[in-house]
Amino acid sequence: MREKNQTIYLTGFMGSGKTSVAKNISTLLGLPWIDLDHIIEKKTGKTILRFFAKLGEKKFRHLEHRLLIQITHNQPMVVSLGGGIILEERNRALLRKKIWIHLFASPAIIQKRLKSNQSRPLLKRKKNESIETLWKKRLPLYNEAPIRIDTNGLTPYAVAKKIVRLLKG
Ligand code: S3P
Repeated sequence: MREKNQTIYLTGFMGSGKTSVAKNISTLLGLPWIDLDHIIEKKTGKTILRFFAKLGEKKFRHLEHRLLIQITHNQPMVVSLGGGIILEERNRALLRKKIWIHLFASPAIIQKRLKSNQSRPLLKRKKNESIETLWKKRLPLYNEAPIRIDTNGLTPYAVAKKIVRLLKG
């Protein structure tokens, strides 16, 4: 069972359900779970929103990359990553050597899920790109993941079951 001795990395657009799915996989497989954004918030004492406002996206991407390298040395676990981790080639290069899963969700579903959520700096201000534009731009990068799971219409638990079945098969 390769999922028992290797870390599982979940990527996908904001609102694709990475955190909830990771928690469910963690329960199903009895593996620890971590969320990279939570680690950043703990380490810096700032919410992601505040981090972007105070220090900017460039610094955020730098820290995100450093922490991604660090967690590759951890024991096997389930990791939910921030939606923008795939923007840097060096992160994708690292993920290519791992169990790298893309949680696919359509822009319409994402829009619905994020409607009343104000915690994403990249979607907050009016001048920011629309979800659909950003989604289209990023899709080819997410699609570099060797495993793509369609999450549309599925609960996080159903998505997690799908992933566990696939990894066991
Ligand atoms: C980002 C996604 C966020 C967070 C930050 C940037 C992105 O994580 O890392 O706001 O660029 O897509 P979630 O995907 O968990 O919302």
